[in-house]
Amino acid sequence: MLKIIKNAKIANETEVFESDILIEDEIIKEIGKGIDAADAEIIDAAGCYVIPGGVDPHTHMDLDVGFARAIDDFYDGTVAAACGGTTTIIDHMAFGPRDCSLWHQVKEYHRLADDNAVIDYGFHGVIQHPVTEERLSELSEIKEKEGINSFKLYMTYDYMLHDDEIFNVLRKCREAGIVITVHCENHGVIQQLRKEYVEAGKTEARYHPLSRPARCEAEAVNRMIHIAAMAGDAPLYIVHLTSAEGLHEVQKARREKRPHLGVETCIQYLLLTDKMYDDPKEGLKAIMSPPLRKDADREELWQALKDGEIDVVATDHCPFHFSEGKAEKQYGAEDFTKCPNGAPGVQERLMLMFSEGFMKGRLTLPEVVKLCCSNPSRMFGLFPRKGTLEPGADADLVIIDPEKTTEINREYIKGASDYSCYEDMSLEGRIEKVFARGKLIVSDGEFLGSRGAGQYLRRGKSALVSE
Ligand code: URP
Ligand code: ZN
Repeated sequence: MLKIIKNAKIANETEVFESDILIEDEIIKEIGKGIDAADAEIIDAAGCYVIPGGVDPHTHMDLDVGFARAIDDFYDGTVAAACGGTTTIIDHMAFGPRDCSLWHQVKEYHRLADDNAVIDYGFHGVIQHPVTEERLSELSEIKEKEGINSFKLYMTYDYMLHDDEIFNVLRKCREAGIVITVHCENHGVIQQLRKEYVEAGKTEARYHPLSRPARCEAEAVNRMIHIAAMAGDAPLYIVHLTSAEGLHEVQKARREKRPHLGVETCIQYLLLTDKMYDDPKEGLKAIMSPPLRKDADREELWQALKDGEIDVVATDHCPFHFSEGKAEKQYGAEDFTKCPNGAPGVQERLMLMFSEGFMKGRLTLPEVVKLCCSNPSRMFGLFPRKGTLEPGADADLVIIDPEKTTEINREYIKGASDYSCYEDMSLEGRIEKVFARGKLIVSDGEFLGSRGAGQYLRRGKSALVSE
């Protein structure tokens, strides 16, 4: 089955150029001017940009946090992703039961995702306390058998790892060519501040960011970078960087040319601020960890994207109901510490970056493509199959009309969430069509794909791993 996308303005991570794209079945066969093929279906993209399908390397579909479960399962969440132009996700697993094998969650996540995801997907493994020799030996076993080349550890929360465990894990992962992704926050300070605020009756949403100051992030980022260096420059990927203080630690490492360091921020830290917590009711929508920061932080993060100091813009997509159904977010109505952490974003990310990044002149379109498509693919061993438009790559692509607008409102939301943090925004640009492995899965806002059509992605070598 042949398709030709005609008259496209193609954006890759390095340039924008006018060309046609020939798709054969699931793959991009050729890119060039004046392509012709008998029997090909013609899609006219005149006036539109064509970019690679988005790759979101940080989602939490169906995340079980014990007292609540994220409401987007792998079907709803990937439908939302697809409608927002994201054709690949790499999902972060929840913690498993205490002392479980690392295989436990791998099996559980196949059960959750395999017959449900509508776009291609992979998993980051999860490492939880306690880390034993047996757990360490499972890392390379899972990499070999499952193609999972990245695992996450947490420096806060119940199953956080202690420094000795982090050091052991990093040494093992350096040998095995595995990337450690890490949630960086100083647990001790956060626990103490939360306790003090609750004891003082300061339980409104605005105390959430105060209980997790930016220096908690900076200290943990700094510690993690040093431990990775002491582990022999182990491949390290910092998830959801939020603050100028945290960024300054990254900049120090960049100046020292620390190899094998990847850094991610998320769309909410670029566009939203801690002012959202001023309203005790609405503020619950944005309770996430780490919390939203100040305008000055946002500005430094945007600049760091421009300067190449941050590699990836992801979402940490993890929605809970705010006003409908069980309204899990309302568990925090009397006490912010009881509110499940997380917010939606997988549908919004790519067009927010197109509109607020590219159309508003903060970034070029190739920079947006690099941050949202090519780099996430590269960091996690999917490049050049995903995140680029070139012959041989999967025909995952998004056609965007820059002259139209996208209104973020209730009708826009395609996942299970009953709110968006960006409601009432009017974005410059609108997705016309989304193709996933050559199949049209979204047209004019309508989802046309099917449950279970997503393929599990066994991943290859990460760009953060040495030869
Ligand atoms: O607030 C967040 N980030 N929710 C998702 C789960 C986690 O903390 O990683
Ligand atoms: Zn997360």
